Amino acid sequence: MRVVVTGGAGFIGSAVVRHLLNETDHAVHVLDKLTYASTLTSLDSVSGNRRYGFTKADICDASAVKAVIEEVDPDVIVHLAAESHVDRSIDGPGAFIETNLVGTFVLLQAARAHWSRLPEPRKARFRFHHVSTDEVFGALGDEGLFTEETAYDPRSPYSASKAGSDHLVRAWWHTYGLPITVTNCSNNYGPYHFPEKLIPLMIVKALAGEPLPVYGRGENVRDWLYVDDHARAIRLVFEKAAPGSTYNVGGRAERTNMEVVLGVCAALDRLRPRADGKGYADQIAFVTDRPGHDFRYAIDCSRIEADLGWSQTETFETGLAKTVAWFLENEDWWGAILARNYSGERLGLKQP
Ligand code: NAD
Ligand code: DAU
Repeated sequence: MRVVVTGGAGFIGSAVVRHLLNETDHAVHVLDKLTYASTLTSLDSVSGNRRYGFTKADICDASAVKAVIEEVDPDVIVHLAAESHVDRSIDGPGAFIETNLVGTFVLLQAARAHWSRLPEPRKARFRFHHVSTDEVFGALGDEGLFTEETAYDPRSPYSASKAGSDHLVRAWWHTYGLPITVTNCSNNYGPYHFPEKLIPLMIVKALAGEPLPVYGRGENVRDWLYVDDHARAIRLVFEKAAPGSTYNVGGRAERTNMEVVLGVCAALDRLRPRADGKGYADQIAFVTDRPGHDFRYAIDCSRIEADLGWSQTETFETGLAKTVAWFLENEDWWGAILARNYSGERLGLKQP
């Protein structure tokens, strides 16, 4: 099949592109605006593949989106392009409304125009797969899990914009019959993770000898999934799931933020001990909490396990060890980001 991947130069998008080119026969065309969060070097290992193509374009630009879809003539559109960082959505929500809401609308319209002209059986097989987040469900207390039936209750500008995009995608199915699928996934981590997010930020700050900023008391809980396990789930859903269906994807790996940071420190202590003989945990510093900080996310992923046979291959411990080792071996990749795009300053406290 021919697959257009929006946001393919980002963290999860590049994992999806590498997975599709390495593990399937699909042709893959990346459509990406190349914002601060993108790194084309994440695609270096596959960019020479004859089944790979790339266009720099903004999903809000209707004529550019139309041109890419006409050129590629896709069987599947996998939509990952988004503004993705909660702290940046607190500082400046406008870009989140533009890309996540307006951009998704523009893409849906272009996908609908393309799909409506496809001959059978390509028309029946076409999929618009929307990649979303567990944050649309709001925050949990100490108990319970998000299921596919949990009511939406987003609380940050980021999660509200993603919730709105999910509603648009489902509306295009119910109203126009566009064959969509949706996944709502928990926190991803792994290689090529942009160092504004918790795990890579802690790794690069630890190595620089800087304080490790833990928001509040580090008691908030996230459910962690290794990014390649997410990429496989996305492929399974767009290849096998019924149009109109939704699947939650999660790691069954709930950890408090302190547990995560201590895990990063322990891995670094093993792999790159500090010269002064002390542990990296000495660098942990509690800082002002994130405004509106959701307490806990946790996903019930039994539907995708039962229906599609998906399961994760990495535990949090094996995935974290691989991730820390990858960052130690790929300083060129993240060093270039720190030099050009983001140098690790605190985000999310400005009043827009
Ligand atoms: P990311 O920030 O690493 O990458 C986003 C990519 O989208 C970048 O390459 C960027 O250049 C591109 N992009 C942004 N605005 C664009 C626009 N207007 N037009 C075209 N391209 C644009 O994001 P990520 O962490 O890889 O997340 C990918 C998707 O998965 C997002 O939709 C996000 O909401 C969702 N998601 C992320 C996680 C997570 O833990 N990171 C979990 C669940 C869902
Ligand atoms: O749950 C899925 C979501 O996970 C995705 O939809 C988002 O795109 C992705 O960014 C992620 O959102 P979070 O806000 O959970 O991820 P982040 O890495 O920013 O923060 C994880 C937790 O760590 C959160 O409770 C805030 C905390 N934190 C974060 C940073 C950057 C800190 O304590 N210190 C930090 O410096």
